[in-house]
Amino acid sequence: MSDPVPAPPPGYTGAAWLPRHVAIIMDGNGRWAERRGRPRLEGHAYGAQSVREIVTACRELDSIKALTLYAFSVQNWGRPDEEVEHLMGLLLDYLVEEKSTIMDNGIRLQAIGQIDRLPAKVLGQLRYLEELSKANRDMTLTLALSYGGREEIVLACQRVAARVLAGELAVEAIDESEIEKHLYTHDLPPVDLLIRTSGEMRISNFLLWQVAYAEIVVTDVLWPDFRRPELYASLEQYKGRQRRYGLTGAQVTPPSTGS
Ligand code: IPE
Ligand code: IPE
Ligand code: MG
Repeated sequence: MSDPVPAPPPGYTGAAWLPRHVAIIMDGNGRWAERRGRPRLEGHAYGAQSVREIVTACRELDSIKALTLYAFSVQNWGRPDEEVEHLMGLLLDYLVEEKSTIMDNGIRLQAIGQIDRLPAKVLGQLRYLEELSKANRDMTLTLALSYGGREEIVLACQRVAARVLAGELAVEAIDESEIEKHLYTHDLPPVDLLIRTSGEMRISNFLLWQVAYAEIVVTDVLWPDFRRPELYASLEQYKGRQRRYGLTGAQVTPPSTGS
């Protein structure tokens, strides 16, 4: 018999304090396998199981409207061919096998990054699922694939420059919202919570613009071990944060008057 699924802690489901947009740097698959004396590829397979569990768990909480997962960076193309091919295979399996979960749970799936570099089979399945799920509204699952934050900002600059050259935009009219319009994430809410697994204290070229005021939680847990309890623990940390956006604590949470 399999273990019972841990329920969300009391008061979590539908709570207003929950982050609307959670982004995750899913790191540590290779080390997870190496610590067991197993090939790195095995870590990726277990990591794919964590993806399945975390997507469902976020959707169950109801208030999380966007989940963005860093699955493969532009820089990850430089890994050994065998590892890249294995990751692409796992991605294809995921896209084929999770179709019903995505559709049954009202999830809109989309991919961001240099998607055209993906193998044709993966790209085909991805486009199919994006199209199929595009009217779903309960949560947007964004897979960052062949993604780089700097590359995304460069692309946005190119698009803005093209508008200027076409006479559609004055240089003085370039503002934050104009840049944001040209980012892959233009239709997503701001990132509230950024989680990184495996203890690394870096951003690794993920959502550089978008994490400007995200709360960051780094856990030592390796991605294949990151399941519901670890998600709830990260959310609990987020719950205790005071988001100040440059203001003072008293401005954000005025002291109670006692009356
Ligand atoms: C994350 O795990 C998965 C990808 C980057 C594709 P890693 O493969 O980076 O695992 P570590 O960091 O080497 O342990
Ligand atoms: C970040 O992990 C990319 C993904 C999780 C997809 P990496 O393992 O590639 O990052 P670094 O090399 O440790 O910075
Ligand atoms: Mg890594």
